[in-house]
Amino acid sequence: MISVRDLSKVYGNATAIQGVSFQVARGEILGFLGPNGAGKTTTMRILTCAIPPSGGTAEVEGRDIRDDSLGVRRSIGYLPENVPLYPEMRVREFLDFRGRLKGLAGARLRERVDHVLGRCWLADVERKVIGTLSKGYRQRVGIADALVGDPPILILDEPTVGLDPNQIRDVRKLVRDLAGEHTVILSTHILSEVEAVCDRVIIIAAGRLVLDDSLAALRASFERDATVQAEVQGPVETVRHALADIPGVRSVEVASVGDSVPRYVLVTEGGRDVREEVYRRVVKGGWTLRDLHREVRTLEDVFVEATVRAATGKANGAAASGAGARGEVE
Ligand SMILES: Nc1ncnc2c1ncn2[C@@H]1O[C@H](COP(=O)(O)OP(=O)(O)OP(=O)(O)O)[C@@H](O)[C@H]1O
Ligand SMILES: [Mg+2]
Repeated sequence: MISVRDLSKVYGNATAIQGVSFQVARGEILGFLGPNGAGKTTTMRILTCAIPPSGGTAEVEGRDIRDDSLGVRRSIGYLPENVPLYPEMRVREFLDFRGRLKGLAGARLRERVDHVLGRCWLADVERKVIGTLSKGYRQRVGIADALVGDPPILILDEPTVGLDPNQIRDVRKLVRDLAGEHTVILSTHILSEVEAVCDRVIIIAAGRLVLDDSLAALRASFERDATVQAEVQGPVETVRHALADIPGVRSVEVASVGDSVPRYVLVTEGGRDVREEVYRRVVKGGWTLRDLHREVRTLEDVFVEATVRAATGKANGAAASGAGARGEVE
């Protein structure tokens, strides 16, 4: 459906993205994460043929972005970062106009406009002038615009930015409902959003891809890597041996918490939960248990690790991109 190969973009002498490759399967919802300035919008703009790549290419439904930009644009509904709307137009009028631009006419046009007005919770404001709408409603108009041509692919650049919590839930549900019939790439800074709606996640940092995995595989690895952590007041070596002796425990590390009660970090086979046995051993030893919990990594941990690694790598290595230099400004 979408195949991105070795994509790069250089603005003047600043490299925005470099060597970015990934695939998106039909019906998949891909979460596109990365810190500010990582290159998400740049990648999305290249995929939608708004700007050309400096190197590499991408195919959208078998069409190359370099030589069939019209075909590519026809198959994509795009919600840009800053939604460009005509503030003096009314909502229905705008969607009608956009639908015509996308080649719709007659009964089909009316049907599509009605459909997206309903889907994006806009029916009650269809006669309002866009310029008088709140930010959240304008965002919905942008999403409705992306949807009106019924494109197989949706590229949504931070679709929930500026929305209130209820609207965020609505938009997430909408995106979830679109899965299967549409392929979606969405960028966001809200990690729980990715966990709630996406099948796969890619993380881009300092212009490079640093993670590409399915949510299911990530969750499974979080479970496997889970540790059991306990704060136990007692003779350190004796406690450590007693805990290390628990079946399924691979290793026990003593991490001092600074305020006298040592913390024990237990790595177990397959992330097994051995909390009950820890409790029993501590009671049996006559020690005091202050804290006992299972620590499972989160997408946020992965995000922070991956992006920090990329940032230090860049600082240590050749910061060849000449960060900050802005050559071409569109
Ligand atoms: N038109 C432009 N001219 C010069 N540099 C640009 C241009 N557009 C983007 N850049 C630079 O390219 C890099 C990537 O920007 P991009 O907008 O793709 O990041 P992003 O991941 O979308 O960030 P954010 O989370 O803030 O939206 C940044 O360093 C940015 O300053
Ligand atoms: Mg952006």
